[in-house]
Amino acid sequence: MSDIAQLIRTIPNYPKEGIMFRDITTLLKDPKGFQTTINMLVEKYKNAPIDYIAGIEARGFILGSALAFALGKGFIPVRKKGKLPGKTITQNYDLEYGSDTIEIHDDALHSGANVLLIDDLIATGGTAIGAITLIEKVGGKIYETAFVVDLPELGGAKKIQSMGHKVFTLCS
Ligand code: PRP
Ligand code: ADE
Repeated sequence: MSDIAQLIRTIPNYPKEGIMFRDITTLLKDPKGFQTTINMLVEKYKNAPIDYIAGIEARGFILGSALAFALGKGFIPVRKKGKLPGKTITQNYDLEYGSDTIEIHDDALHSGANVLLIDDLIATGGTAIGAITLIEKVGGKIYETAFVVDLPELGGAKKIQSMGHKVFTLCS
């Protein structure tokens, strides 16, 4: 197991009975673990032709903003419904333990902007596919998607690859 995986703890039956919740707060509070995570992403994307990093609320904000800062790129938030102050477009989606709605500002990107989408974890892929849909609807192009954790048995990474997008993950 990678050092990163060892720093992620599992909370059984959260937020619902039967879910094994992979909790990255233990990775984030470990200075070396957090730094290693961001450094690995920086190594991967330092020469990539990315215009923006888009992060999904909430844990994608923590990773995405650290990465955007380190790469010298702008950060675009994909937020849960009702949180963005400007004009937004909206997407409903299902995830491993329910359903939700995310939004992006309709003027968040210039047409053709190359976007790296980041979140802490991919499970069913519902959330990330919702975010991809939003980014493409406002004119962005997905350069790649990146996650710290992949839960391969839930098939999200394969789904995104089958849509023609690249998926990079640090651990499973
Ligand atoms: C978690 C995680 C991803 C999503 C992945 O977020 O941070 O965004 O689930 O699941 P999926 O691949 O099945 O869609 P959550 O909805 O728990 O939101 P939070 O970060 O606001 O708690
Ligand atoms: N999002 C969807 N499934 C998850 C899980 N098992 N742990 C943490 N976040 C998740």
